[in-house]
Amino acid sequence: MRTRVLLSAIVLVCSAIGAMSQSINLPKPALSDTATLKYALENRQSTREYNAKKRLNRQEIANILWAGWGYNRKDKRTAPSAIDRQEITLYVCTAEGVFRYDAANNRLDKISDQNIMKICGKQDFVEKAAANIIFVCDKDLSVSTEMSAVCCGAISQNIALYCAANHLGNVVRASFDGDKLRQQLKLTGNSYVILTQSIGYPVE
Ligand SMILES: Cc1cc2nc3c(=O)[nH]c(=O)nc-3n(C[C@H](O)[C@H](O)[C@H](O)COP(=O)(O)O)c2cc1C
Repeated sequence: MRTRVLLSAIVLVCSAIGAMSQSINLPKPALSDTATLKYALENRQSTREYNAKKRLNRQEIANILWAGWGYNRKDKRTAPSAIDRQEITLYVCTAEGVFRYDAANNRLDKISDQNIMKICGKQDFVEKAAANIIFVCDKDLSVSTEMSAVCCGAISQNIALYCAANHLGNVVRASFDGDKLRQQLKLTGNSYVILTQSIGYPVE
C-alpha cells in the first residue's frame, strides 16, 4: 500500500515537472499593416457571445500578447507601467491548458495541461471564449494597487484594440474568483490575479 502511494506521488510530481518544463516558442508577432487606428477605435466593444468552435491559432495568440504587453523596444513594452516596474504577467488559458507569457522570449511556458476555462470567470460565456487572459500582479514590484490597475487598463485596451482591428471579440472582466485562479496558476509569494479578459470569435 505504502509503495503504491509513493509511486503515485512520484508520477504526480513527474507529470507536474513535465507540464512545467514544456515551452512553446511563439511565431514572431505579425500585425496587419492595413487595419487603422480609426477602424479599431470605431469597432472597440465588449463581446459576450463567442463561437466556441473557433479557436485561436498560434500566430493570433502571439499577436494578441505582443499587442497587449510585448516588448516594442529593447527592454520596454507596448503598455506603460509606473516607474517602469513591469509588475504584470499575462497568463493564457485555453482548452489546451494554462500558459505563462514570457514576453522577453516570445514564448509560452506551460503551467498545466488542465482546461480551466470554466473557472476563468463567473459568467457562462467565459467558457466559450477561445482564450482567457489572466493578469497577474506582483505586489512586490507594484508601486500601488491603483498604479497596477492603470497598467492593466493600458494592456487590456491594447488587446481590445487589436481584437477590434482583427474581427475578434473581447471583454475585460473583474468578475472572477481570485483564490481559485491563484491556485490553478500555481502563483506563489505576493502575486495575485488583478484582472481577466476573454477573447474569441464572436457569434455571427
Ligand atoms: C474594470 C472593468 C471590469 C469589467 N468587468 C466586467 C465583468 O466582470 N463582466 C463583464 O461582462 N463585463 C465587464 N466589464 C465590461 C463593461 O461592462 C463594459 O465595458 C461596459 O458595459 C461598456 O460596454 P462596451 O465595452 O461594449 O463599451 C468590465 C469593464 C471594466 C473596465
